[in-house]
Amino acid sequence: MNNKSVGILGIGKYVPEKKVTNDDLVSMGLDTSDEWIFERTGIRSRYIVSENETTSDLAYKAALKAVKDASLTVDDIDMIIVATTTPDYRLFPSTAAVVQNLLKINRPIPAFDVAAACSGFSYTLSIAENYIKSGHYKNVLVLGADVLSKNIDWTDRTTCVLFGDGAGAVILGEVEPEYGILYTKLYADGSCAEILKADGGTKSPLTEGFVRDKSHFIKMNGRLVFKEAVKVIDMSIKDLLDDCCLNLSDISYYVAHQANMRILDYVRQKQAFKTNQVLSNIDKYGNTSAASIPLVLDDFNHQFKKGDYIILNAFGAGFTWGVNLIRWSK
Ligand code: ACO
Repeated sequence: MNNKSVGILGIGKYVPEKKVTNDDLVSMGLDTSDEWIFERTGIRSRYIVSENETTSDLAYKAALKAVKDASLTVDDIDMIIVATTTPDYRLFPSTAAVVQNLLKINRPIPAFDVAAACSGFSYTLSIAENYIKSGHYKNVLVLGADVLSKNIDWTDRTTCVLFGDGAGAVILGEVEPEYGILYTKLYADGSCAEILKADGGTKSPLTEGFVRDKSHFIKMNGRLVFKEAVKVIDMSIKDLLDDCCLNLSDISYYVAHQANMRILDYVRQKQAFKTNQVLSNIDKYGNTSAASIPLVLDDFNHQFKKGDYIILNAFGAGFTWGVNLIRWSK
């Protein structure tokens, strides 16, 4: 491994055209209200794919924007990694391979998916970083893309109000020394599998009755997820600050997975972050799983300055979680 510094060369995002507000959900007959949803989650709206739209469609459009933002062309990409748990195909091929084809990359570059639920972007960033550091690849397209709307029961108000669809992309490559990704730590605790899950795999194969009973949709114990999330967030921020010998006052921005505004508010108060350090766009997009961190990076890209220290902090089903420290290089 050499001492190359690896960072973000370009960013892009794409969300579907169809916007669904909380009031739209009420109009569709769901027993909920804008007040209930906003007060408990911070969500006002989310974007939902059309019937024929897929995860790779969103990822492809986000990828084109990231490539342009990096002032590169698709010919410069030499690896594609997609963080997703809602692939185009249930088993195979990977969504990354589909994206390669959509981008018309005819060279046989590696393309694969990473399944770490809402932590996928942190995991994927780290994998790409290490491939670039090792000298094997130069410009890696890293995507977080999920279409949760096709995996939730739209009559279950305890889950359907939370999620939205989207894709975020970054091009990772070499940056000037001492910038880019300075630190990463990834974690998992598989004992929490049952608190947030979607059945239909080898544990409970998709039978006709199983699907009729809607057993394949996302199931969540919201209270346990909340407790677990705030615990692992605390742990990962502490690890990062201790390992990097930094204080919270050194951090310009904190970008967490956009699961829920209450989780973000809890973390802000517990850690004593200043309000403007904690970035959020959950009001617009809801929880977009692996896409949520790159969607925030793209939305706030204009306000980042070279040298800003930015914490990325993901957490999700598994339980999995991860933390990255980036020194902004663009
Ligand atoms: N509208 C109106 N009422 C609702 C809704 C809704 N959308 N959903 C649930 N309720 C009702 C329940 O039926 C219940 O009614 P009851 O008292 O008559 O039985 C009542 O509200 C309270 O339900 P709880 O589940 O206890 O609600 P809670 O206050 O815990 O809020 C929430 C639920 C927002 C999900 C909360 O548990 C939470 O923030 N959990 C964190 C989980 C999370 O953020 N998940 C995101 C995905 S996971 C991830 O990304 C890692």
